[in-house]
Amino acid sequence: AKQWRGVLHEYRDRLDVTDATPIVTLGEGGTPLIPAPALSARTGARVFVKYEGMNPTGSFKDRGMTMAISKAVEHGAKAVICASTGNTSASAAAYAAHAGITAAVLVPEGKIAMGKLSQAIAHNGELIQIQGNFDDCLDIARELAEHYPVHLVNSVNNDRIEGQKTAAFEVVEVLEDAPDLHFIPVGNAGNYTAYTRGYSEELERGGATKLPRMFGFQAAGSAPLVSGSVVKHPETIASAIRIGNPASWELALAAREKTDGYFGAIEDDQILEAQRILSREVGVFVEPASAISVAGLLERAEAGHVPAGSVCVLTVTGHGLKDPQWALRTADGSDVTPTVVGADVSEVAGVLGLR
Ligand code: F0G
Repeated sequence: AKQWRGVLHEYRDRLDVTDATPIVTLGEGGTPLIPAPALSARTGARVFVKYEGMNPTGSFKDRGMTMAISKAVEHGAKAVICASTGNTSASAAAYAAHAGITAAVLVPEGKIAMGKLSQAIAHNGELIQIQGNFDDCLDIARELAEHYPVHLVNSVNNDRIEGQKTAAFEVVEVLEDAPDLHFIPVGNAGNYTAYTRGYSEELERGGATKLPRMFGFQAAGSAPLVSGSVVKHPETIASAIRIGNPASWELALAAREKTDGYFGAIEDDQILEAQRILSREVGVFVEPASAISVAGLLERAEAGHVPAGSVCVLTVTGHGLKDPQWALRTADGSDVTPTVVGADVSEVAGVLGLR
């Protein structure tokens, strides 16, 4: 049987991949676009969820990383470096391991989810915790890549954006056009930029008849693209997007302009509520940063900015298992305590209310 071969093979003719490119792949991409009737019912739109948690390391970063690592190896790199809030480091470590090269990863101390930390360690990344935030990590990674023989694989590297644009190709292929609105989390705004590029290329080649309006969302405590100024001390429980100075700031503004898009800010409790709705009503478990797409849709619909019947695609960027602690808390913030009974059928039946 034929299996999905990863985005560099599947979209070879639409990427800078030649016979000289050693393709480093873990089979990323080809993720499901899941209809979400519960969200359609809540909003009056036709809602689909692009589940990027289904990538090999559990996030969309793998699409960009297959490209960035393949091109790095093509150029002779023996080591790569990145700053990360967790997912990029997990992905870089995995793809570097597959390629047989070293990945150095800089993360903000104590501020990345346990699942992501364990991925970087499992794949033997050179993990360094920095006593600072993500923005400090990125400054250091950029400077190291400038002065030492180590290749930067953050999304300031255009190869990352190129790989990530393939998600828009997949959406267009399934829907047989672009959606009307696209909802997406924003940290560095690399992915917002990548989808805009992917949709633009589909429009040019005639695969799509329009560009979707790109709606990007940041956590209220770290929303520089909404406020228009750098946030020195970004705060949010959505640690993946705890970023105060987005690397792709200018590209993001250009993408918003081009698509008649929008940037909005969402409070942490709305993010967690959206995570619960997506888990309970759609059956898709995502990390908090990813749930902001859902929160953004609900907020925009509530405000009357989602036309009835419009086709809405929500990118949910990372798997819920990366940062599971939030699912173990109730809406009022207390711990969930699973029921315990003896190994007895009638006791279990009693608890379940079966009679
Ligand atoms: N969602 C998740 C789960 C992420 O990990 C990130 C970024 C984003 C959304 C935002 O994407 O930066 O392209 O706007 N995570 C990076 C990392 C910063 O290091 O893993 P963006």
